[in-house]
Amino acid sequence: MAKTIIVSNRLPISLRHRNGRFEFKPSAGGLATGLGSIYKSGENIWIGWPGNTVEDPEQRAEIILELHELKMAPVFLTKKDVEEFYEGFSNETLWPAFHYFTQYMVYNPEHWEAYKRVNQMFCEAILKKADPEDTIWVHDYQLLLLPKLLRDALPNATIAFFQHIPFPSYEIIRMIPWRKELLEGICGSDLIGFHTYDDMRHFLSAVGRITGLSSESGYIQAENRIINVDSFPMGIDYGKFEKQAKSRKTQNIVKNFRNQVGDSKLILTIDRLDYSKGIPQRIHVFHELLKKHKDLHGKISMIMIVVPSRDKVQSYKELKEEIDLLVGRVNAEYSTLNWVPIHYFYRGFPFEELSAFYSMSDIALVTPLRDGMNLVCKEFVASKTDRSGVLILSEMAGASKELQDAVLVNPNDKQGVIDAIYQALTMKPQEQKARIVSMQYNLKKYDIFQWVKVFTDRLAHVKKKQAELVSK
Ligand code: G6P
Repeated sequence: MAKTIIVSNRLPISLRHRNGRFEFKPSAGGLATGLGSIYKSGENIWIGWPGNTVEDPEQRAEIILELHELKMAPVFLTKKDVEEFYEGFSNETLWPAFHYFTQYMVYNPEHWEAYKRVNQMFCEAILKKADPEDTIWVHDYQLLLLPKLLRDALPNATIAFFQHIPFPSYEIIRMIPWRKELLEGICGSDLIGFHTYDDMRHFLSAVGRITGLSSESGYIQAENRIINVDSFPMGIDYGKFEKQAKSRKTQNIVKNFRNQVGDSKLILTIDRLDYSKGIPQRIHVFHELLKKHKDLHGKISMIMIVVPSRDKVQSYKELKEEIDLLVGRVNAEYSTLNWVPIHYFYRGFPFEELSAFYSMSDIALVTPLRDGMNLVCKEFVASKTDRSGVLILSEMAGASKELQDAVLVNPNDKQGVIDAIYQALTMKPQEQKARIVSMQYNLKKYDIFQWVKVFTDRLAHVKKKQAELVSK
């Protein structure tokens, strides 16, 4: 029977070195949960990088065996691969380009060579496991060349690609010297998915102009087959967040945290350290709010969780310095002995503590400058089981297309965000409830499991349609 292979740059675990040994830390991410029902069943498997370098062949062999038990197979990256493929081309060329930060883009031919080499390594790792009729579902921008490499080797396979970050306008894509190869790479797929309709439109326009392939109603006409392109907004494991927020454990943590912060109104922000998230801009807004509204002093605090990420990449290092400085300034200017304006944490938190932060906060301030989807805002809404609280959400996050009952803001409009915070602070409980309930309804219905189902159903439909066209 044909099996399904999931492929992403990172496996849903990460490998850590400890005292000369290694250990696996499972990922708690939504994607890992959503795809769990797929890769854990039958002969299916997940292929990817275990997140750390391992040079010793004996250790590699041990890791392969252990991962096999978890239904995973590793692609080992060397230090050079990590520098040139992961930090380099993926995160210094594609990531800034796709998030419209063209000033951070690096055009390095060696990084491009590494990107091609590592995509080829992924292809070889898959070919060791794949049969000609298998389904292979490739995820995200680190592996844009992979669908075509697979198609060339396995012409009859079912190949899908989903991009988790934005797809920008043709005007940005054309800046990348290797744009044609990248787009042709993705077009090895049978189904190509994005979070939003706009991403999909940008992709189709770039494919038309750069590769010359034409499309109609979401179908690209390739040489000998049709390729479907559509938007599939990704959801979260709604039930998990709802259940955790209601649990005694989380509620006890809330009591404990509340005892420590007092009865200040709380604004929550949680992000990976990334310039696309607009963290410095948000601190400026909060600073301005405190400047303008002296009545809020002592009565409002921001809980700012910044999860370390890509800390070897120069732009990320600089961002960390900038955030440290800005937080220091605000706190130095306004703190009192019993009030801290910004509680700043540069680390991740265990799930039950995150759930407590979501549950106890009055406002979630989610203001990325650009974001493919953003799941934090969805997790906040799912965790508000008492139906109070306000979500302030950037129009530049893919999630804003679904969460129209959030208070939507343009993150570049400082005064607009300040006004939104003030609106949230003074919003009547009935209005908070109406907005939260309506968003909860949608998020519960289109959760991560539904997302996987809709995507895989569509993939089956596309294959059927292709077969019908061939038999005509
Ligand atoms: C985004 C990307 C993922 C990536 C994640 C963490 O969500 O879409 O592909 O895995 O960030 O980034 P990292 O560089 O640590 O894998």
